[in-house]
Amino acid sequence: MEIRVLGICGSLRQKSYNMSALKTAGALMPAGLKLEITAIGDIPMYNFDLQEKGFPAPVTKLRDEILAADALLFASPENNWSVGAPLKNAIDWMSRFQPQPFVNKPAAVLSASTGLLGGSRGQYDLRRILGGLGVQWLAKPEVFINLAAGKFGADGKLNDEAARKLMTEQMAAFQDWSVRMQRAFA
Ligand SMILES: Cc1cc2nc3c(=O)[nH]c(=O)nc-3n(C[C@H](O)[C@H](O)[C@H](O)COP(=O)(O)O)c2cc1C
Repeated sequence: MEIRVLGICGSLRQKSYNMSALKTAGALMPAGLKLEITAIGDIPMYNFDLQEKGFPAPVTKLRDEILAADALLFASPENNWSVGAPLKNAIDWMSRFQPQPFVNKPAAVLSASTGLLGGSRGQYDLRRILGGLGVQWLAKPEVFINLAAGKFGADGKLNDEAARKLMTEQMAAFQDWSVRMQRAFA
């Protein structure tokens, strides 16, 4: 059974390390997982007044993509020790829908940062936020790509073997987790 994974990158930067990490994870996925990456750059800043006029098209598009996906894969930078604004904003919009598109969705989370901690503080805030919305995230293996500037080539290739190995293990565990969560919530 093929599991359709929706990839959500929290960085809007053209040469984002997190986008490169997401693509690398897609390439390292076991057969059975299939990644499609969405874009969140067109989502406006959350504003209740906008919502009252009707959810903007990029917001409903993301909601529909989440609903159609079997599982979610997040890669986001840490900004000032927490989740970057674009992803937090997208999640805030998603949280306004009833029924909740995130409920019981299996997910995996990874992060890349130029800092020493690999975005771990942001990643753990992200896990907390997603947990509050009913996402079933995979606990381990954890993937934090620190000192990212030295680990990705100019072409976006992740050259660090230890990180690639960890990512491969995470994707294998993610497949198993997604199947188990799908069964649990069928
Ligand atoms: C506003 C801002 C805040 C940042 N705060 C952190 C931080 O708290 N921790 C960290 O490890 N890196 C921090 N960084 C550095 C990012 O990790 C780095 O810019 C990274 O490349 C962003 O991810 P991206 O390559 O996917 O765009 C910050 C960068 C910006 C622009």
